[in-house]
Amino acid sequence: MVIRREDYRPPAWLVPEVRLDFDLDAAATRVRARLSVTRNGADGEPLRLDGAGQVPLSVTVDGVAIDDWRLEGEQLVVPLAGAAHVVETEVEIAPDHNTQLMGLYASGGILCTQCEAEGFRRITYFPDRPDVLSRYTVRMTADAARYPVLLANGDPGATGTLDDGRPGIRHWAEWHDPFPKPSYLFALVAGDLAVNRGSFTTRSGRAVELGIWVREADLARTDHALDALKTSMAWDERVYGREYDLDVFNIVAVDDFNFGAMENKGLNIFNSRYILADPDTATDYDYDGIAAVVAHEYFHNWSGNRITCRDWFQLSLKEGFTVYRDQGFSADQGSAAVKRIEDVRTLRAAQFPEDAGPLAHPVRPDAYQEISNFYTATIYNKGAELIRMMATMLGPVAFRAGTDLYFDRFDGTAATCEDFVACLEEASGVDLTQFRRWYGQAGTPRVSASLSHGAGGGRATLRLAQRVPATPGQPDKQPMVLPLRLRLFGAETGRPLTDEQLVLLDQPAATIVFEAVTERPVLSINRGFSAPVIVESDRSAADLAFLSAHDDDPFARYEAMQQLMLDTLVAGAIEGSADYDAVIDAVANTLDDPDLDAAFVAEAVMLPSEAFVGDQLAVVDPDAIFRAREALRGDLARRLEARWRLAYDRAPAVPYVYSPDQKGRRRLRNVALGYLAASGAGDAAALAFAQFGAADNMTDRQAALTTLVNGDAPERDVALAAFHDRYAGNGLVLDKWFQAQALSARDDTTDRVAALATHPAFTLANPNRARSLIGAFGANQRAFHRADGAGYRFLADQLIALDRLNPQTAAKLLPPLGRWRRFDAGRAALMRAELARIVAVPGLSRDLFEQASKSLEG
Ligand code: ARG
Ligand code: ZN
Repeated sequence: MVIRREDYRPPAWLVPEVRLDFDLDAAATRVRARLSVTRNGADGEPLRLDGAGQVPLSVTVDGVAIDDWRLEGEQLVVPLAGAAHVVETEVEIAPDHNTQLMGLYASGGILCTQCEAEGFRRITYFPDRPDVLSRYTVRMTADAARYPVLLANGDPGATGTLDDGRPGIRHWAEWHDPFPKPSYLFALVAGDLAVNRGSFTTRSGRAVELGIWVREADLARTDHALDALKTSMAWDERVYGREYDLDVFNIVAVDDFNFGAMENKGLNIFNSRYILADPDTATDYDYDGIAAVVAHEYFHNWSGNRITCRDWFQLSLKEGFTVYRDQGFSADQGSAAVKRIEDVRTLRAAQFPEDAGPLAHPVRPDAYQEISNFYTATIYNKGAELIRMMATMLGPVAFRAGTDLYFDRFDGTAATCEDFVACLEEASGVDLTQFRRWYGQAGTPRVSASLSHGAGGGRATLRLAQRVPATPGQPDKQPMVLPLRLRLFGAETGRPLTDEQLVLLDQPAATIVFEAVTERPVLSINRGFSAPVIVESDRSAADLAFLSAHDDDPFARYEAMQQLMLDTLVAGAIEGSADYDAVIDAVANTLDDPDLDAAFVAEAVMLPSEAFVGDQLAVVDPDAIFRAREALRGDLARRLEARWRLAYDRAPAVPYVYSPDQKGRRRLRNVALGYLAASGAGDAAALAFAQFGAADNMTDRQAALTTLVNGDAPERDVALAAFHDRYAGNGLVLDKWFQAQALSARDDTTDRVAALATHPAFTLANPNRARSLIGAFGANQRAFHRADGAGYRFLADQLIALDRLNPQTAAKLLPPLGRWRRFDAGRAALMRAELARIVAVPGLSRDLFEQASKSLEG
C-alpha cells in the first residue's frame, strides 16, 4: 500500500490524556491503556486505533465493556457517538520474541522501547501518528530483583512495593510527562542499571538532574557522554536560545538497537556504541560520534519534541534541522574546517549515490510504502544542507531571528517543512519562493562553471549553468536556487583578485563579469560547499594544484586537492595510466606547509574512495578503479617516503587524550602509516605491528590492525587473533574486528567475509554486528562487485535471513545491490537476479520489498 502526502487529513479524534499501566515481564507483558478521546472531525466518524501484532483482550468505553468494536486489518475500530469519551483497552505482548526491535523489546535483560516511527502500535492500540499529542501518565510494575530501575518519559512520581501473592518482590513506579507528545516519543526502560549522575543548571535557574544509565560493568565508560550532554545543553542555550524544560534528563544505552539513538522526551535511548567510550576501546572517531549523537538527540528536545512533525512526509523538518544543529555543535568543539570536510565526505558517500539511484526521493517525499525506509541520508544530510543554504542566504542574525520565530510560533504543535521556511522568510524578508523547490525535487544538481579572461588587465567572464538530472517519477526539473560562494585568485601573484561573493544561481544559466582583472584569474567556487551540488569546471591540473596551495578557504583548498586527485584517478581508470606529478607536488607542498594543522593535512592528503571515483564514471569498473588507485597510492608513497616517515615520527604525547590537537596528530600519523605500507617499504608491516602492540589507545591500535589486514604480511593473522582474544567480551570492539576484515583491500576478502558470517561471534540478531560485517562488505566496492557475483549472492542470502528477524535493518543494507545501472551488463544481470530472488521470497517484509522492488525497476 502506498501512502501519499497529498492524502493528509487531520485526525478524526484527539487523545489529550493517556494513562498506561504496564505489568512488565519479558515473556508476557500486560498493557492497559486508558485514552481520553475528544472528537476533532465530523460526527459519525468512529475512533480508529492502530495496532500491530496483538489483539485486544478487552475494550471498554466510559467504564463499560463493549463488543461492537471490530478489526479492520490491524486497526481497532470503535464506533463512538458524541464528543468525548474514555476508551480503555488491554493487550498482552511478548518482549522476548520481539526481534524487530520496534515496540517493547528485551536487550541483554533490559526491557526497552523504540517507537519511532510506528512502533507504539506494537505496544498498545493508539492513533499512532505524529499529529496526535497527548499528556502521558505511565505506571510500570515489575519484578524488583530483575528490574530494579523503572524509567519513563517526563518526571518521576510515586513508587511502591507490592505484595500480590506472586513469587518474588514486585515493585512499581509512576512517571508523568507534562508536555503533550506524539506516541513515537513514548519510552520506558526496566532493568538492572547503574547510573552516572550529573547536573546542569539552565540559564533561567532550573536545576536538571542528568543520568546516563548502563550496565554496571559499563559505568566507567560513560563520562564522555555525560560531558557531551552538558556541553550540548549549554550550546543550545547560547546558539539557539533553547533551554531544557524538565527536572530530569535520562539516557539509557542498550546493545541491540536499529540505528544510532532516539530522542524520546526526557528519556533518550541509545545504541551503546554512541555512549560507551574509553581510550582502550573507542577511537577518536567514536568519541566524535558520541558527542555528535548525544548533541543531536538532546537538540531534538526543541527541534522534534516541543515542535514535532505533522506527518512523516515532514520528517526532515526535525531531522534535517537537527543534523544541521549537531553539525554546528561539533564544528564549535574543534576544527570547523575539518568538520565541514567530514560532513561533505559523508554526503558524497551516502547521499549523492542515493540521489543518483533507484531510491532517489525528495527531502520532502511524496509517497512511501514503509516509512522506516525514509530515514535516509537524503532526509537527514541533504535536509541539513537545505537548512545550511538558507542560513547562508539569510546571514546569521536573520537566520537566528527566523528560528526564534519558528520555535515561538509552533511550540506545542505538529508542524510542516513549509511552516519552517515561512518563518525564515517572514523574519528575514528574503524571498524563498523558488528555494522551496529543494524540498520537492530529488537529484543532485550539476553546475558547470567556465571562466575566461581577456589578456592584459581585461575583463573576466564566468559562465555558469545548472542542470538537475531526472530521478524516478520526476523526469523534468525546474531550475533551483543555488547559493555559490566564489572568489578569484591571481595565478601569478597567488593573491585574491576579488572579495568573496555569494552568487545565487536561480536560472538555467548566468554570466558574471569581473572588470579590471589584472592577471590570469583562477576560480574558487562553491567555497565551504555552500550548495550541495556537483561542480563541473574546466580548471586544469595546474590551477587545482595552485588552489590547493593558495586558496584562503580551507574547504576549497581541500576540494581543489580532491578534484585534482579525482581527475588523475579517473584518467588512470579509463586509460590504464596517468600523470601523477601534479598530485605528488601538491601533496608534498601540503605536507611541507608549516601553517596547516595536522587534522587538515590528514584530510587533504587522503585519496578519494574507490566508490567516489566510481561515481564519476559512466560505467563503474571496480577492478580498474582499484588498480588506478593503488598505482597512484604506491607512487605517492614511494616518491614522498621520506616525508611520510617524518610525519609518522611526529607522534602525539602519551597518555592518550581526546583533544582536537592530539586527534589531528594521530590521524595524520595513521595516514602516513597507510602510505608507508603502500610504499612497499620492507619495515612497514613491522612498524604497524609494533604500533599495534604498543598503542595505549584504540585509535592507533585499530589503524595498525587495518593496515595489517589490508596486506599479507605474517603479522596480519597474529594481530587479528590477538585483537579478537583481547576484546572477546566486548561486542562494540568485536564489531571493529569484523569491519576491518570486511573492508580489506585483499583479493580474498569476499570469501573471507562469507566465512566470517559463520564465526561464533557473528549474529544477525544484533544490528551493530550485522552492519559491521554485511554493511561494511556492501561498501567494499571491489570485493562486493567481484565479477563472478559471489558478493551479490552473499548479500542477498544474508538479507533474506535477516529480514525474518529484523526487516528494518535488512532493508537498510540493500542499497548497494540496487546500483546495477551503474555497472557493466554482466554485473548488472547478476545484481538484478539477486534482487529478483529477494522480491520473490514468500512473506517478505514490506520494508525489504519496497527497497528491492524499487531497485529492480531502477
Ligand atoms: N529520530 C531518531 C534520530 O534521528 C532516529 C529514529 C530512526 N527511526 C527509524 N525508524 N529508522 O535521532
Ligand atoms: Zn534525529
